[in-house]
Amino acid sequence: MKWVVGVTGASGLQLAHTFLQILGKNPGGSFGRLFLVVSKNAGKVAAAEGSDFNPADYAGRFELISPDDFAAPIASGSFGFDGMVVIPASMSTVGALASGFGTNLIHRCGDVCMKEGRRLILVPRETPFSLIHLENMTKLKQAGVDIMPFVPSFYNKPASIDDVTRFFALRLLDVMGVHQPDKNRWGDE
Ligand SMILES: Cc1cc2nc3c(=O)[nH]c(=O)nc-3n(C[C@H](O)[C@H](O)[C@H](O)COP(=O)(O)O)c2cc1C
Repeated sequence: MKWVVGVTGASGLQLAHTFLQILGKNPGGSFGRLFLVVSKNAGKVAAAEGSDFNPADYAGRFELISPDDFAAPIASGSFGFDGMVVIPASMSTVGALASGFGTNLIHRCGDVCMKEGRRLILVPRETPFSLIHLENMTKLKQAGVDIMPFVPSFYNKPASIDDVTRFFALRLLDVMGVHQPDKNRWGDE
């Protein structure tokens, strides 16, 4: 499978870091080419949060594409990729996707997913949500987009932020259709 990961300037860049690390190890042997697009604002938020997120760290496994590169393969429906995850997804990116008024490659790639009927999974980050945020996410859900806000699980008894972000990354892989066994899953040994 070929997947795109978009990273935007919402809080929680550590989530992107953990997810990219796990995805880069090719869980289940499921992934071929992987693409990474990082918005211009994501770097500022990563610095503000003291996160481990650094796009260069993933360059070995992911093809890094500039958010300005509208000529990239993933900007076209004729390039056969399977889907995109946006983690974390800012409310301005959610708004751009819901309105169809995209200004960068993350928006364009999401638009391609929706028009081609491919998977688009958003990990929105904001609290509290305004009515505009909720209406935008409702509209996206109606258009077939998966809305998977970062909501930590507690039944797996996390002892650290790393436990929380790792378990969320596994749940995200579930939604992508890649099941990874884990002793902390409900019902697993
Ligand atoms: C430290 C910091 C934290 C932020 N956290 C959020 C957030 O959690 N959710 C959100 O929607 N925007 C957040 N923002 C604002 C976005 O960065 C801003 O709306 C930006 O336009 C997003 O652009 P992008 O989606 O192209 O990355 C934050 C900004 C800063 C500086």
